Amino acid sequence: MPARLEHAILPRPAQPGEKRIGRSSGLVEAVRQGRPFTPEVHDALRAADAVVEVRNFSLWYGSAKALYSIDLSIPRKGVTSLIGPSGCGKSTLLRSINRLNDLVDGVRVEGQMLLNQSPVYAPDVDVIELRKRLGMVFQKPNPFPMSIFENIVYPLRIDGENRRSLLEEACERALRSSALWEEVKDRLKSSALRLSGGQQQRLCIARAIVADPEVLLLDEPCSALDPLSTLRIEELIHEISRRYTVIIVTHNMQQAARVSRQTAFMYLGRLVEFGPTADIFQAPRLPETEQYVSGRFG
Ligand SMILES: Nc1ncnc2c1ncn2[C@@H]1O[C@H](COP(=O)(O)OP(=O)(O)O)[C@@H](O)[C@H]1O
Ligand SMILES: [Mg+2]
Repeated sequence: MPARLEHAILPRPAQPGEKRIGRSSGLVEAVRQGRPFTPEVHDALRAADAVVEVRNFSLWYGSAKALYSIDLSIPRKGVTSLIGPSGCGKSTLLRSINRLNDLVDGVRVEGQMLLNQSPVYAPDVDVIELRKRLGMVFQKPNPFPMSIFENIVYPLRIDGENRRSLLEEACERALRSSALWEEVKDRLKSSALRLSGGQQQRLCIARAIVADPEVLLLDEPCSALDPLSTLRIEELIHEISRRYTVIIVTHNMQQAARVSRQTAFMYLGRLVEFGPTADIFQAPRLPETEQYVSGRFG
């Protein structure tokens, strides 16, 4: 097992002399009063070169508020995990980045989001063009009912690319990157629906990166997979994050600990704490984070 999959994630008690804030966080009051909450952002992540900047961002589904003034900067490359109890807004935040929430009736947003400095929510943004800059993979693998090859090159085809040699090259590159090439290179013309669940999810990752997205968004990509396929996907995510910025939503804390460099803990639509993954799990600063990562609620 690779060393990075072994590190312990149990919180440890503060060491003598170790600086922990341990302040009463004010989260409970913020929630009670329906206010935003000023998150604990660890210094290591303050000055990062951000790919996605979320600024005072709120979202409502009809009259129900799902995100409260989120402020978060996602550093370039590497994996950022979003963790927190079910319903805390992880998927909503992820789907706000590629504006998938626009497709839900009655959604309203406030605040700003920037993708490599360009606004995601300005009036003149072409949403179709914006979505091309992001790759997304969902809980359940969703191969299209077509061949493996056509699945992978789909994003290039809809962008008007039809040169065979270019498509073939891109297909091989994406399949190699998603650790699927050796398994499927002799049956690129057969239906993607015949692949196993784990293979289908790797295919979806290949399809999500074939057009070189600025960010890869993963929403619980392993939750429908067996433990072995999950491990393969985790290793793949780690590998891919050398070249891509990856944001992964996961309810599995071991997974967050294994794959990500930094972790954001969300609760009731607020960002609570954001820091290097090892710190979030082993030396969280806020009591709520500590309770969650040690399994005491959620
Ligand atoms: N399409 C939707 N319409 C209305 N409410 C929604 C929709 N999607 C999510 N919500 C609500 O928004 C809140 C956050 O949900 P979600 O982002 O899915 O949480 P998570 O991914 O952390 O489980 C929840 O209260 C959920 O019920
Ligand atoms: Mg979700």
